[in-house]
Amino acid sequence: MDLNGKSVVVTGGNSGIGMAIVRAIAAAGAAVVIDYIAHPEDAAELVKEITADGGRAIGVEADVTTTEGIDKLIGSAVDEFGRLDAYVNNAGIEKRHSLLELDEEVLDEVVAINLKSAVFGTQQAAKQFLRQGSPGVVVNMSSVHEDWPMPGNLAYCVSKGGMRMLTRTAGVELGPQQIRVVGVAPGAVDTPINEQTMTDDSLRQKLENSIPLRHVADPAEIGEVVAFVISDQARYLTATTVFVDGGIMHGGGGL
Ligand code: BGC
Repeated sequence: MDLNGKSVVVTGGNSGIGMAIVRAIAAAGAAVVIDYIAHPEDAAELVKEITADGGRAIGVEADVTTTEGIDKLIGSAVDEFGRLDAYVNNAGIEKRHSLLELDEEVLDEVVAINLKSAVFGTQQAAKQFLRQGSPGVVVNMSSVHEDWPMPGNLAYCVSKGGMRMLTRTAGVELGPQQIRVVGVAPGAVDTPINEQTMTDDSLRQKLENSIPLRHVADPAEIGEVVAFVISDQARYLTATTVFVDGGIMHGGGGL
């Protein structure tokens, strides 16, 4: 995978899948803006690791639920690396409640972080690509639950369902300008979001048995697909979602 010369923003890049995306694209030669909101030390550590390997990365603290935060990230990419070639809407949270238990505050928070950030991230990245007069890519980190109901996880499923249609609608709108919008939908991944399942042996076993490939993904298995999606090898891929789930959607109930 060759991402040399590309400048990429990854939101929520200092943890979980975001960190694996940063590692994979930096290893392929991209210069990376690592967005974070908490744990600055993790972002700093990642920058150090990438720089030591001869790569380029900076950490930028920004709240992606605001357009000011998104502008700060894109501005940093332009100031530091001269341009923007890809923007990865990765920041996300999960708060499990059924419809009947859900309150307004939880829905607002989950939708703001998972979906609103991605809508305006896509908008502002597209404006930057148009200003540069260059093609560009937006990657929307979704989930199998953009399509697959998960009882007890309503706000998250709603946000990822929205992500699905953001990808399709923005992809169709921006196609003529040679801007690609692609969703990447992981299944179960060994990250902090899944800590509860991963630290309970019987839950973990049940989950693994429901995955045709029989293992929960290592974050790198997702990051490497994102690197491909950003690359020119994926230049005909847009307005759709790539499922990277070990077959879980077809293998049994989610956990
Ligand atoms: C969720 C996980 C869940 C997985 C498979 C992911 O999107 O974040 O909590 O285990 O989907 O159901």
